[in-house]
Amino acid sequence: TYVVTDNCIRCKYTDCVDVCPVDCFHEGPNFLAIDPEECIDCTLCVPECPAEAIFADDDLPEDQTHFLELNAELVREWPVISEQKEPPPDATEWDGVPDKLKYLER
Ligand code: SF4
Ligand code: F3S
Repeated sequence: TYVVTDNCIRCKYTDCVDVCPVDCFHEGPNFLAIDPEECIDCTLCVPECPAEAIFADDDLPEDQTHFLELNAELVREWPVISEQKEPPPDATEWDGVPDKLKYLER
């Protein structure tokens, strides 16, 4: 599966959802998560993310491995999103800020 990681938080550009052939992104207030049981590993979403926040589960940066479990957990709480929408107005200010997990809203 592919995994959404820290830099998506408060950026949530949603470019990724437009290309996903199986609609496996789920939307929370300021983060998206990928359903590991639906993702077909097509890789299409990876280059679409302006925040470079999406990684293969076996290629996660060492400090992002906890996002694998977190994505699986959050998709059970959040609805599917299949169309791109406006990002938060301050998305670019948060792009690249490290360790945003404390800001995750659920
Ligand atoms: Fe969807 Fe493909 Fe990305 Fe998986 S790798 S989340 S199937 S676009
Ligand atoms: Fe998040 Fe990147 Fe998609 S910032 S919403 S994973 S395009």
